[in-house]
Amino acid sequence: MIHELSDVQSNSIGCNTRIWQSVVVLPGAIIGDDCNICSHCFIENDVRIGNNVTIKCGVQIWDGITIGNDVFIGPNVTFCNDKYPKSGNKNFTLLKTVVGDNDSIGANSTILPGITIGENAIIGAASVITKDVPSGIKVIGKW
Ligand SMILES: CC(C)(COP(=O)(O)OP(=O)(O)OC[C@H]1O[C@@H](n2cnc3c(N)ncnc32)[C@H](O)[C@@H]1OP(=O)(O)O)[C@@H](O)C(=O)NCCC(=O)NCCS
Repeated sequence: MIHELSDVQSNSIGCNTRIWQSVVVLPGAIIGDDCNICSHCFIENDVRIGNNVTIKCGVQIWDGITIGNDVFIGPNVTFCNDKYPKSGNKNFTLLKTVVGDNDSIGANSTILPGITIGENAIIGAASVITKDVPSGIKVIGKW
């Protein structure tokens, strides 16, 4: 289901994936089966999202971000891909982020650029993730 009030420019949307109001998906993005992309999300081009992923409202998935299968991303989680941002940054260096299978990221957390989160991790609400997260652990607050 692709809601008529969304702007989905990608043809790579899996079966049974639901995309709700005011979501923008750019043409290069690849999204798997059985996902739920809630309203007011933005998904850029160089993005790969696995199967059975839930992305709650108000999340931006920028270029260079890969999300595994069975991932939960809470409302207003913030990803980044530029470590030293400037307006019109001539020295922009894209840093890639990987979210592992079965991860859950709590509401309003910030994931700094270039982070790998292992599988089966839980990130508490409003955490700030500054370095890689090993598989299977729970992180609360600054990591
Ligand atoms: C982290 C979380 C998974 C709970 O884990 P838990 O091990 O059951 O933690 P507890 O509830 O037993 O709390 C343990 C301690 O951590 C604190 N804590 C729990 N979550 C916290 C958070 N997100 N930020 C800061 N501290 C937190 C508790 O206050 C408690 O502190 P205390 O020992 O000083 O009393 C949960 O609190 C959380 O953040 N879930 C995400 C919710 C969310 O964003 N949902 C999105 C969809 S609505």
